[in-house]
Amino acid sequence: MEKTVTTIMIALLLYFGHTSAQVKTFTGANWISSPDSAACPVFKKRFLITKSVRTAILFITAHGLYEAAVNQKKVGEAYFTPGWTDYAKRLQYQSYYLKQLKRGDNNILVTLSAGWYSGVFGEDMKQDNYGKGTALLAQLIITYQDGTQQVISSGADWLRSTGNIRYSDFYNGEVQDERVRPENWKKVTVENFNKTSLLPTISEPVTGQETFRPKRIFKDSKNETIIDFGQNLAGLVKLRIKGKPGDTVTIAHAEMLDEKGNFYTGNLRDAKATDVYVLNGKPETVHPHFTYHGFRYAKVTGFIPSYNNCVAIAVHTNLKHTGTFSCSNPMLNQLQHNIEWSLNSNFVDIPTDCPQRSERFGWTGDAQVFCATAPFNRYTLNFYKKYLADIKADQGTNGAAPVVIPDFEQQKDTIKQGVAGWGDAATIIPWNLYQVYGDKTILKEQYNSMKGWVDYITAESKNNLWTTNGYGDWYAPGPKTALPFIDQCFWAYSTQLLLNTAKILGKDNDAKTYEKLLGRIKTAFQKTYKNKDTTQTACILELQFDMLAENKRQYAADKLAVLIKINNNHLATGFLGTPYLLPVLTRFGYTKLCYTLLLQQTCPSWLYPITKGATTIWERWDGIKPDGTIQQTSFNHYAYGAVGQWLYEDMLGIRPALPGYKTINIQPHPDSRLKWAKGSYACAYGKIVSEWKIIGSKVSYHIIIPKNTMANIELAGQKLKRVNAGDYHFITTNNVCL
Ligand code: BGC
Repeated sequence: MEKTVTTIMIALLLYFGHTSAQVKTFTGANWISSPDSAACPVFKKRFLITKSVRTAILFITAHGLYEAAVNQKKVGEAYFTPGWTDYAKRLQYQSYYLKQLKRGDNNILVTLSAGWYSGVFGEDMKQDNYGKGTALLAQLIITYQDGTQQVISSGADWLRSTGNIRYSDFYNGEVQDERVRPENWKKVTVENFNKTSLLPTISEPVTGQETFRPKRIFKDSKNETIIDFGQNLAGLVKLRIKGKPGDTVTIAHAEMLDEKGNFYTGNLRDAKATDVYVLNGKPETVHPHFTYHGFRYAKVTGFIPSYNNCVAIAVHTNLKHTGTFSCSNPMLNQLQHNIEWSLNSNFVDIPTDCPQRSERFGWTGDAQVFCATAPFNRYTLNFYKKYLADIKADQGTNGAAPVVIPDFEQQKDTIKQGVAGWGDAATIIPWNLYQVYGDKTILKEQYNSMKGWVDYITAESKNNLWTTNGYGDWYAPGPKTALPFIDQCFWAYSTQLLLNTAKILGKDNDAKTYEKLLGRIKTAFQKTYKNKDTTQTACILELQFDMLAENKRQYAADKLAVLIKINNNHLATGFLGTPYLLPVLTRFGYTKLCYTLLLQQTCPSWLYPITKGATTIWERWDGIKPDGTIQQTSFNHYAYGAVGQWLYEDMLGIRPALPGYKTINIQPHPDSRLKWAKGSYACAYGKIVSEWKIIGSKVSYHIIIPKNTMANIELAGQKLKRVNAGDYHFITTNNVCL
């Protein structure tokens, strides 16, 4: 299937390769498969080069996951390509510039694994969620120095075999037999799968990043050999091994040790999380290629680990770091560390809930509660754009946004359902991204999706009230907040965001419609739920979403403060209330109470898990109970890490006054229980810095405003004049700015 293509087509391919929506890449290439392979299939194509090469670009995708090598050199650094999308509607491909071609004989080898497409995945450990088996589609376009081109396309002239990867799935792990190398090459099957859903990859790739050497290697009381890597993470263990041919090494993964200090896998549900290597007698470095695990500890058999022959490698989407935060309290610094590590561990192509158990879905609720915190720490624009496109693709014809995106469980249903606080990801994520990055195209691209979600709720509502089943304030300790109360608040919030968006996009008729709708939602709320705000979360949501008449708001905030105080200065909030708890308290003048909650060390609180040695954020406040009992829960869930937004926006006081930070608000909130706090956020114009120190009765501030921006600075409740870019020092004393 080698042929010369026209220069125009090449130019189009190069132009569109990384940027446009959908193109006719892969013209002339055919899907190929290896239908009877139980192990991961390997495809091969040899080709001859007789002239000098100017450029060589490989376009490639798969049903399943692929890893390609050209002339024995791995192509790119990414894991889990082509990524996870609703494949029938959107299948990403990647393009790579190759440098390793040479005159003479060349070869391309591609290994496939079932991955999200057809591998074991989902709470019932189902297979074939998107289709059967695996398949490859590839095209290598070589441009020679003399201007001619050669195209190598997947098709009937490729060969197939199997190699050392005998099995792989995300939950159970990978089995490699290092004695097996591909041989007995057979003809491939050419498939007639369609190519209409192909599109260029949107987000940064998942790559191997931070490396951790063992911190401790020990035998537990069951005489099992355990490696402690010191950090809970999503990733894999890489080993240097040598043994007799046929020897077997196993690596099981776990996040925790149990109460007796033994390896604990009780929270992994059905995931075996175990990699197996059968050795070939030669020294080798091995690691899994098509799976990852959530772990801090590894239990090994058939191998004697040392501090030099094994490492843990964190594997996650390669996002640029944007922010820094530190302060005089080491436990708060550990909290920031844990937020970043739950971010790392759950930004694996999609925003997952957790990286360890047989779940790891793109729960929309988790994604929306964390989407204001993540950008302070990482550059998330492309990552969330992809996820938003996934939401749009998976919304039902009725506009309902599924609770899990990509929506593999309900994918065949046309009628879908939506849940308050989860489906609202469709409005909240685009709106937050617009605030952070100032990019209106996000709003344009998502407008119909946002509108679809609000229209769905409106159609479901009766007498201007929305009541639906849902997860509510998931895992809130203490009294439950009524679901209908939560439903109505999120309906209002989504409508408000849609209304804001309609105004920005100049959709005046829509703006009028949704303004009226919002009025009706709030009036119905005020009539129906008067005095029903009996929980912390109820007060938080009605305040955060402006559900009450203005003259009723301070009273509700005072009530929230009382509810916290009578709860012995502890929060009682779950997934939906927690992100807004501190922002609401600060907005209504209770910043001192924020610090009390933030510095609280007994359960439930943000610092309690740290007293138990947490290196990531837990799914439940009491993942380990005060008596030491371990719960079967995730120890790596970023949802409660949403407090990170308050650390940046209120403790440091950095937030956009205009979308994208062209104008910045600086309004730090120091508290004498800390000596200092400092941090930065790299917006598109440069680094914003905010730092404060308590010196006796004075507070000194250091603020840097980047070029081409302006800032409104407010210190100790006193508004200063608008300032230009620059490096500023201020001192306040007794709440007066000197
Ligand atoms: C997930 C959560 C998710 C929830 C729905 C759980 O199993 O881990 O993070 O949002 O289900 O309530």
